[in-house]
Amino acid sequence: MATGLPAKLKPAARVAGQRQDVWSIVNEAAAASPKQPIVNMGQGFFGYNPPPFIINAAKSALDKVDCNQYSPTKGRPRLRKAIADAYSPFWGRTLNPETEVTITTGANEGMLSAFMAFIEPGDEVIVFEPFFDQYISNIEMPGGKITYVPMHPPKDGATTTSSAGNWTIDFDELERAITPKTKMLVLNTPHNPVGKVYSKEELEKIGALCVKHEIIILSDEVYDRLYYVPFTRIATLSPEIERLTITVGSAGKNFYATGWRVGWLMGPEHLIKHVSAAHTRICYSSVSPLQEACAVGFEQAEAEGFWDETVKDMQGKMKRFNEVFDELGLPYSDPEGGYFVMVNMAKVKLPKDYPFPPHVASRPRDFKLSWFLIQEVGVAAIPPTEFYTDPNAHIAEDYMRFAVCKEDEVLETAKERLRGLKKYIEE
Ligand SMILES: Cc1ncc(COP(=O)(O)O)c(C=O)c1O
Repeated sequence: MATGLPAKLKPAARVAGQRQDVWSIVNEAAAASPKQPIVNMGQGFFGYNPPPFIINAAKSALDKVDCNQYSPTKGRPRLRKAIADAYSPFWGRTLNPETEVTITTGANEGMLSAFMAFIEPGDEVIVFEPFFDQYISNIEMPGGKITYVPMHPPKDGATTTSSAGNWTIDFDELERAITPKTKMLVLNTPHNPVGKVYSKEELEKIGALCVKHEIIILSDEVYDRLYYVPFTRIATLSPEIERLTITVGSAGKNFYATGWRVGWLMGPEHLIKHVSAAHTRICYSSVSPLQEACAVGFEQAEAEGFWDETVKDMQGKMKRFNEVFDELGLPYSDPEGGYFVMVNMAKVKLPKDYPFPPHVASRPRDFKLSWFLIQEVGVAAIPPTEFYTDPNAHIAEDYMRFAVCKEDEVLETAKERLRGLKKYIEE
């Protein structure tokens, strides 16, 4: 919080968070660690480039005059068409690129636009815990009130590796969270950080509740090309559910280009037109040359074999990295999708009197584990209680989240370093 400033120079409450955020805690720990350079398995950015056919498309887009100027607010027609063409087969009908797709500045700004479009002060939004942290401020900015519903880890998560699908929702708990003010529900599948891909049956139950109570579903499917079990898109389950659903996508995640900030929302015209209006007010339009490159990405991905390759590569990385936890006897939630793995470190005994700085000592055990890992083995991972509210943080305080979207050599270095945990593990 800003102190010592005249009242008028103080920031608005929405940005004046008092708690240090997880990213700066982890970065600070990394800078202070004797184990340099730190192997960063924390943040979910790729350690390698998009494939050449996409990079080359970005380079040639810069040579075109119109690609260096404003795009239409709803996005470049070529990209909207490429996305509509790529997704129509999943929907089983032809999506209209004019009315059912809108391009945003990354998925994140797309979701902000969706909340800005539909949330009035006091409206309630259901969010499952753990959550992608940006949802919270994006909902609160237009005055939304969040109702949290926890995902429950497997009961034997501290002792046994099992599918990330075993993190479950209690549907009675979900129904109890719904009130007449519930306007939206945020779903995330494949899930960050859990790695769960919601089953068709689970999505049918969520969809039925939303239809019954007329709740807009914001389905964050940014990892939609990375699934290792059958993947269902909730919008495709029935016309009644589709009527309520906005599906979120991210070219950053699809094409290994998180810095390009290209995302999109798909859904029925009666929802998308308002989201496009909010997006126009927030940032007018999104970055032009990279939209063009993403259009080429969608046009050519299938023929290049890219979608199959991306699954094979990431699943390979997942297997390669998780071997070290099998070796160490540390159980994890075996991901069904995405590029994060949650490892249960209840067996890692932190030495008594270990010198944690006060801002770490005051946080749940996973923050201490994170600090300890950085200092003692030189590997950075994310403490997932950051993605929980305080009352439910205990659910995940033994877990650590690792991002495996890194070069294989980086994964091998991380594994070698993590073997250093052996002496702290109690069987
Ligand atoms: C679940 C989830 N949704 C959305 C995003 C943001 O996507 P983008 O980079 O396209 O804004 C992320 C990024 O980490 C994410 O993990």
